[in-house]
Amino acid sequence: MGFIRVLTVFGTRPEAIKLFPVIHALEADHRFDNRTCVTGQHREILDQVLALAGIVPDHDLTLMRDGQTLDQLTARALTGIGQVLDAERPDWVVVQGDTTSAFAAALAAHYRKIPVCHVEAGLRSANTHHPWPEEANRRMISSFADLHCAPTQRAADALRTERGEGAQIHLTGNTVVDALEWVTQRIMQQPDLACGLAEWERRFTGRKILAVTTHRRENLGAGLINIARSVHEIARRSDIAVIFPVHPNPQVRSVMQAELGGRDNVALIEPLDYPHFARLLAISHLVLTDSGGVQEEAPSLGKPVLVPRETTERPEGIEAGTAKLVGTDPIVIEREIARLLDDPAAHAAMARAHNPYGDGRAAMRIGDLLAG
Ligand code: UD1
Ligand code: UDP
Repeated sequence: MGFIRVLTVFGTRPEAIKLFPVIHALEADHRFDNRTCVTGQHREILDQVLALAGIVPDHDLTLMRDGQTLDQLTARALTGIGQVLDAERPDWVVVQGDTTSAFAAALAAHYRKIPVCHVEAGLRSANTHHPWPEEANRRMISSFADLHCAPTQRAADALRTERGEGAQIHLTGNTVVDALEWVTQRIMQQPDLACGLAEWERRFTGRKILAVTTHRRENLGAGLINIARSVHEIARRSDIAVIFPVHPNPQVRSVMQAELGGRDNVALIEPLDYPHFARLLAISHLVLTDSGGVQEEAPSLGKPVLVPRETTERPEGIEAGTAKLVGTDPIVIEREIARLLDDPAAHAAMARAHNPYGDGRAAMRIGDLLAG
């Protein structure tokens, strides 16, 4: 019996984090010949993950350009990935989540009748504008994927309703839990992988750390300004410090620099590599984030998450009590942060270490499903 030829395609930081466990699993499994194609939708923050996980892509389309439109990115990704598929002719294409890279790769595969395995399938906010354009991307991928790897029972149920009884829908857990466990082990073996925050930790000794990340397209503009203003207000308190690795998107950077730059207890820093971000979560008292992946990681570490968005496709964290939607009204965000700083019972209620998103064995299950 020959190898099963898999082409794993991705382009952004969160896809790389959620797919490296799958790539590791496929590469350790003699049933597979796995090759990787990165679109380069992201650059520095993608390369950080590739270096950590020891992945050297077989193809790199270097698509990132400042200020390119979604249609430019989509068109270039679709044709670029199509050429790679024509050269590779894999048995499976694996994509993850809901980015433009994932959608273009799935579509290019579908156009060639190459089966698509969709990792983290079935997340739904029920609002095509939140998150935008991701809700539409993942629904489109689901409409033609051949193997749907659902992270939670809710996601599997949503897919079953949409795709019907005959569809290949499997509950695998979310590979982000595998990734976080892997990086936590690596840090235990090699603590200097995550020692780069020591200077901030020293400077902010005795203060509660608020970790912040933002990048959602639907928050660009007014939403981001509101989030920044809430952080600005809360940072007037002397008992807190903010550590904020700022997304490289210039539309995020300019707002954060203008609203938050130059304050002693607000560290606007470069994006952290994954071990350092895990360390930041570990030392934080609470997290304010519009990131999907961070909502899924923080519960493993017992950190309350406030989500400055109107909706979330990850209600499991809200139901488990580890995350709370706070919208983008600065007064509400500031009030919710203050509550978690001042009310130990409210903080403790959200800080239970329990992860509804997986058990750390998702990648192995996905490998078994691909093997058929
Ligand atoms: C994209 C994904 C989003 C995901 C997010 C994770 C789409 C439509 N959106 O967001 O689902 O949550 O990535 O971060 O696919 N940039 C750099 N260096 C980098 C990365 C980005 O300079 O390493 C700058 C570039 O100017 C780039 C801009 O940031 O054009 C935005 O990057 P982009 O991939 O378009 O991000 P989003 O679409 O916001
Ligand atoms: N992350 C990181 N460094 C940072 C910020 C985030 O390594 O400075 C990781 C984080 O742990 C999570 C992922 O990046 O696994 C989330 O990526 P992002 O927020 O860009 O995208 P989303 O998850 O919203 O699609």
